[in-house]
Amino acid sequence: MKTFGIKPDIKAGEDSLSFLKTLPYKKYFIVTDDMMVQLKLTDKIIENLNSDCKIKIFSKVEPNPTVDIVQKGIVDFITFEPECVIALGGGSPIDACKGILYFGDKIFNLLGKENKRLFIAIPTTSGTGSEVTSYSVITNGSSKIALADDKMLPNIAILNPEFMKTLPKKVVADTGMDVLTHALEAYVSKNSNPITDAMAMEAMKIIFENLFDHYKDRSILEPREKVQYASCMAGAAFNNSSLGINHSIAHSIGAKFHIPHGRANAILLPYIIEVNSNADIRYAKVAHALGLPASSAAEGKCALKTWIEIMKEKMGIQKSLKEYGVDFEEFRKLIPDILIDIKKDICTTYNPNQLSDEEYIRLLLKVYYGE
Ligand SMILES: NC(=O)c1ccc[n+]([C@@H]2O[C@H](COP(=O)([O-])OP(=O)(O)OC[C@H]3O[C@@H](n4cnc5c(N)ncnc54)[C@H](O)[C@@H]3O)[C@@H](O)[C@H]2O)c1
Ligand SMILES: [Fe+2]
Repeated sequence: MKTFGIKPDIKAGEDSLSFLKTLPYKKYFIVTDDMMVQLKLTDKIIENLNSDCKIKIFSKVEPNPTVDIVQKGIVDFITFEPECVIALGGGSPIDACKGILYFGDKIFNLLGKENKRLFIAIPTTSGTGSEVTSYSVITNGSSKIALADDKMLPNIAILNPEFMKTLPKKVVADTGMDVLTHALEAYVSKNSNPITDAMAMEAMKIIFENLFDHYKDRSILEPREKVQYASCMAGAAFNNSSLGINHSIAHSIGAKFHIPHGRANAILLPYIIEVNSNADIRYAKVAHALGLPASSAAEGKCALKTWIEIMKEKMGIQKSLKEYGVDFEEFRKLIPDILIDIKKDICTTYNPNQLSDEEYIRLLLKVYYGE
């Protein structure tokens, strides 16, 4: 049996923060990072909450959030006992918040307390789609662990395009390529279905038509808003169909060499398309839908890969780990650990091709040298 859920409720648009005005709660816990406080985006949340409520802000989240950060957040969550929890930021604060709630709720249960809290996610990158997924990715030492549980799915997601105006170009490039990777992996996943296909394909069309415009000028509403919708749709697609080895490898090398998540995915993407031979027809269908040459599966797959390589170049994304600056000896020594990480990662299960160790090693060397 396949299960498909379209959740959570989504409020979208420039006026979407006004939804917060309708909330009746007395205690709000905001999980975010320091950048959101500096940019005064937290103030925009607070302005919309009722004036007599108590607010606690946990702003210690850093990119690629660690178990340590989650533990610190749990202490604040447990002691404050909020009625509503708001995650504000990119994937890092939203994922950290999910970890805090997942383990914090367990502790409340052990204490015999029922903690009915509303969970609202407000993304400020486009992005991970974490606002509509049951996934949380937490860094534990030199590995990243992708947890999946419906208990971490937000109750409400608020898509406010105003928050994306301050994004640095580099973050737009990385997170936009993350969206493309989510949609493409969801589309070629062995667990895809017509509903996930529709969302993934539309997300890819939007990225194709809008990501570079958004990258060039974040002040223009239309591409900014469209890319935000694409991020959300790609998240909903992969939440139901799963991701693939692009993400398994990105999780591992991202944690080991401190590469931002979207950048790791973008470096890998052309090589993963190449290796996933079982999905050739699906890649060609994507190329066809994007208006790229696709008179045969081989031509379509090649055209899709070439378009991605051009996009990467236009947005200053490196072709290889070598170009990114990863030291070869360090990389070579960690290959056995990377293989262990890939096999443990939940994203590996539904990848179109299952690779042997030798094939993984060959792939990793290609990604390193860019050949
Ligand atoms: N839960 C999921 O489904 C899922 C999916 C993919 C990735 N992830 C995880 O999400 C994390 C990456 O999240 P991300 O790519 O959104 O980046 P991020 O949250 O790590 O943010 C990257 C940087 O951009 C800054 N930033 C964010 N929004 C900004 C804004 N509006 N203006 C200015 N600066 C802003 C942040 O302060 C940070 O310095 C990784 O840990 C990754 O593994 C989770
Ligand atoms: Fe991702």
